[in-house]
Amino acid sequence: MTKKLENKVAIVTGGARGIGAASAKALAREGAHIVLVDILDCNQTKQEIQDLNPSSKVFIYNIDIKEREQVEKVVNETAEYLGRLDIVVNNAGTCSRFDLESMTDEMWFRDINTNLRGTFLFSQAAIYPHMKQQGSGKIINISSISGIMGGPISGKKGTESGRSGPAYAASKGGVIAMTKWIAKEVGELGINVNSIAPGPVETEITKGMNYKLDQAIQRIGTPEDIAEAVVYLASPGADYVTGEVLKVCGGAAIG
Ligand SMILES: NC(=O)c1ccc[n+]([C@@H]2O[C@H](COP(=O)([O-])OP(=O)(O)OC[C@H]3O[C@@H](n4cnc5c(N)ncnc54)[C@H](O)[C@@H]3O)[C@@H](O)[C@H]2O)c1
Repeated sequence: MTKKLENKVAIVTGGARGIGAASAKALAREGAHIVLVDILDCNQTKQEIQDLNPSSKVFIYNIDIKEREQVEKVVNETAEYLGRLDIVVNNAGTCSRFDLESMTDEMWFRDINTNLRGTFLFSQAAIYPHMKQQGSGKIINISSISGIMGGPISGKKGTESGRSGPAYAASKGGVIAMTKWIAKEVGELGINVNSIAPGPVETEITKGMNYKLDQAIQRIGTPEDIAEAVVYLASPGADYVTGEVLKVCGGAAIG
């Protein structure tokens, strides 16, 4: 069977674990070469990719996505060494669960700068100049249903309920708005920009949280559920899709 992403080059941020690791593996399964970006060690993901698809090249960058110079280095070296840049999955993220009353500036800036500014930095560096010169590219921004609904649970204090905090919701709402904004700018360059908004997914971010899962599909999501949506948006099958927010949430945010 032909692979959907044969010899495409993808950068996946937050690739050490969780949704990023699952997305990197799913893209490699479809034939892509992968650049893993994280502050954590990505060697386990690298090994799993190589077991899955030995012909997939895998590179690791241990950087902080909040740092412009480091982001530009990753993007420029990827384009130089691998000869192209087709896909960027802006997935790395942090989630503080403090409520409004107890949220500090430090927590505010951590979530906003990681989730929103990190996505901005990678999108800018990938599009200008690489994807623009290539005349093609797929940017996939992992947001959250928190960015649509203001946190999926009402009335409860963050740290007690697992409700994501106001900085997280604001950052993810910002990612969604920025996705639509950039999509309108770069459609004429042959570049698609979309977002995936997951509901609760079983990863380190949700560990120990007791979600009620009062939703149409009554189970918590898996990283693989999100990874398959990433493959779809990265694939030629989604060439006519841009500026969209694909909710992958088991129906937690229908409407
Ligand atoms: N798990 C969920 O329920 C859920 C729901 C909605 C959205 N999301 C989003 O999905 C994405 C992935 O989260 P996950 O659930 O896999 O959690 P995770 O904590 O397992 O993965 C996040 C990864 O991002 C990396 N990271 C964080 N800050 C970074 C930085 N400054 N520079 C480089 N890497 C950094 C972490 O080291 C980690 O490997 C996040 O953007 C998160 O907000 C998750």
